[in-house]
Amino acid sequence: MVKKNACIFISGFGSNLKSLIRSSRDPVFPIKINLVITNNPNAQGILHAKKYSIPFLIINTRRRDYENIILREINKNKISIICLAGYMKIISKRFIFNAKKKILNIHPSLLPKYKGLNTFEKVVKNKEKKTGCTVHYVNEKLDGGKIINQKSFYINKEDNINVIKEKTQKLEYKAFPEAIVKIFRYI
Ligand code: GAR
Repeated sequence: MVKKNACIFISGFGSNLKSLIRSSRDPVFPIKINLVITNNPNAQGILHAKKYSIPFLIINTRRRDYENIILREINKNKISIICLAGYMKIISKRFIFNAKKKILNIHPSLLPKYKGLNTFEKVVKNKEKKTGCTVHYVNEKLDGGKIINQKSFYINKEDNINVIKEKTQKLEYKAFPEAIVKIFRYI
């Protein structure tokens, strides 16, 4: 099977990157991770790229032309799919248009509920009975693209923010690889 080249964008811990690396090592998983990009020089997730000898780039997002630099790297590496795995910068409309790639994002809520930041706090504040995670295509609307995969769980009365985060992220490690399999199954 010919795997598609993927680039994973991260900003922090990189546990979703780790799960995607694990999946991509399976010969029948549809993507190969060729590149990791981060806006954060201190992102712990870089260690996962290093461990598996995946090239990574730290992009200085204070530069006005930083998205052009990313685009050049994406094209140079013949990337077909970009996965935002805890990437905490907004991707511009221009980037989405010029990249002409599949761009997927993982978000820690059952979209369309709780777009944006501080998701777990909002879930607790609104006394939700159920929450989860969503993998969706990225379009110009924040967390607004077409949903590819969702996973949910019921919240126990004693679950605090940390427990909810832990349960949500555990589901993310299944939801993202599943979404990737799903979108390439029909090509
Ligand atoms: C994940 O829970 C992801 O859903 C969230 O950041 C976390 C990154 O964790 N993304 C967003 O909130 C995007 N709006 P990780 O770095 O350990 O994968």
